[in-house]
Amino acid sequence: MPMRHFLSTEDWSRSELQSLIDRAREFRDSPRGDALKGKSIALLFFNPSLRTRTSFDLGAHQLGGHAIVLDARGSVWPVEFEEGAVMDQGPEEHVKEAARVLSSYVDLIAIRAFPKFEDWQAEREDPLITAYAKYATVPVINMETIVHPCQELALMMALQDRLGDVRGKDFLLTWVPHPKPLNTAVANSAILIASKFGMNVRMLVPDEVYTLDPRYMGAAERFCADAGCRFSLTTNVEEAYSGAHAVYAKSWGALPFYGQWEAEAPYRAKGAGFMVDEAKMALTDDGVVSHCLPMRRNVKIADAVVDSQAFLGISEAENRLHVQKAIMETLARGTTN
Ligand code: CP
Repeated sequence: MPMRHFLSTEDWSRSELQSLIDRAREFRDSPRGDALKGKSIALLFFNPSLRTRTSFDLGAHQLGGHAIVLDARGSVWPVEFEEGAVMDQGPEEHVKEAARVLSSYVDLIAIRAFPKFEDWQAEREDPLITAYAKYATVPVINMETIVHPCQELALMMALQDRLGDVRGKDFLLTWVPHPKPLNTAVANSAILIASKFGMNVRMLVPDEVYTLDPRYMGAAERFCADAGCRFSLTTNVEEAYSGAHAVYAKSWGALPFYGQWEAEAPYRAKGAGFMVDEAKMALTDDGVVSHCLPMRRNVKIADAVVDSQAFLGISEAENRLHVQKAIMETLARGTTN
């Protein structure tokens, strides 16, 4: 069987993703195993983390494997990704060597590398993880770049646990306030997974400048069409929340102002009232609400909602451990290091 990476759920069928979630439920009931016995995973972090780092490290341990956490922001040599670069300044080694050397040590490589907010046209190609996946000879797992596929599975597992069959149910992705512009990864991922699993997907944004990259908008529209579901975008809060079964809160920066955020300020101000609160949740169909975490309370979601039975964020975070074990087990089959 050809080697597979877990870079984006776009590359995995719905039934494959469901199998990973089903396996994650087995791991929830029976956490220990030997799928990674004698195997190892390198966790390469270019950005901070609480959940991802802990759950991958612990998950590898519970499966009998060994995780090596590499802090790429200081204790690892900086890496050049450009093909044909004359490396007379900056990074000390090229990804061609780094990926192959790591592959000679470990069975899996997992990478977290947020975009740098410099040039979306370049960063939308996800150059860092794409280069690692190209040159590594072991499977590569995305721990969040411009999508967050592990978070997607954790979210879908939590939604299914609470709502049962999610097909035909109404999923709202709402932009929420935050003091600074954030990565679009989780927003991209939220619409990918909800649409792939046959939910009606609505996006609530303060202004159409918050439309996501066409790659993800297009994929979600396509998945919805294939499943006979609806995909819509609105700036109307009442319309968006009305009858929703699930609300997902996320903040992100508007792509037309990528890296030049001062000009985004007037559009951001339009969403000042977009925090998820009890009044908005009252418009839903007894809806649940979640967030990938970390989350600023009373900015993104009000205390009363976070502290209610409707909030799934803690379950979703716990599910990261279970789904990642399913991913590691699946990808590590057949590796030989
Ligand atoms: N949701 C998530 O990935 O959390 P961390 O940034 O803490 O890893």
